[in-house]
Amino acid sequence: MPPIELSDVEVQKYQEEMKLLKYLAIIFDLDGVICHTDKYHYLAWKELADELGIYFDRDINNRLRGVSRMESFEIILENYDGTFTQEEKLSYTNKKNEIYKKLLENMSPNDLSEEVKETLDELRGRGLKLAIGSSSRNAKFILKQIGLENFFDAISDGNNISRSKPEPEVFIKASEFLNLEPKDCLVVEDAEAGLEAAFAGGMDCAAIGDAVKCNCATYNLTSFSDLLKICSC
Ligand code: BG6
Ligand code: MG
Repeated sequence: MPPIELSDVEVQKYQEEMKLLKYLAIIFDLDGVICHTDKYHYLAWKELADELGIYFDRDINNRLRGVSRMESFEIILENYDGTFTQEEKLSYTNKKNEIYKKLLENMSPNDLSEEVKETLDELRGRGLKLAIGSSSRNAKFILKQIGLENFFDAISDGNNISRSKPEPEVFIKASEFLNLEPKDCLVVEDAEAGLEAAFAGGMDCAAIGDAVKCNCATYNLTSFSDLLKICSC
């Protein structure tokens, strides 16, 4: 089914047809949805790739969205002729993470847009539970940097999963932390892998940013505040 266009009438019609009273919770991807860390991932991977003499550009960086750190390195290694042992790979991904964490220190509450902050507050005011479902093992640090350390009702991240997106584990865990059924949760994602993960977990999903191009989400958002239209009944 193609994404629902967000005129009020269409959303209402869809919700009536699907007998959805409303979602009880929203599970947000972090990187690319709540805040933007792409440029820091790019800079950190680029520094490592240059050191190893591996070609790396922004298009390759875009393919890493939603993908775990080690799987990201495997994608980068598609442009490398040699081989590394698991131990070497771990050491290089740790090195990338040290560079990345240093860059994350530049983040502050100013990296949280007014629109995102106001929308989150309004959604909570409407009684929805709000959670994070992120592949990142730095999620809590990023949330601290942007001033949302204690904001969410649950945080499911790269530290509590063994299989990252497109596997649904991170979102299923988030729904469990909230004590809710997957069907009562809406996922918000900017990556195709994340949309696949949401569907695989039995959840509806709203695409934002580049994920809109997939044309496979339940809803396409043109802006973050469009969530207020979806969660209005
Ligand atoms: C996701 C990002 O949120 O986290 C990916 O979209 C990243 O690009 C993944 O690879 C893992 O991040 P981290 O912080 O654990 O290296
Ligand atoms: Mg993302």
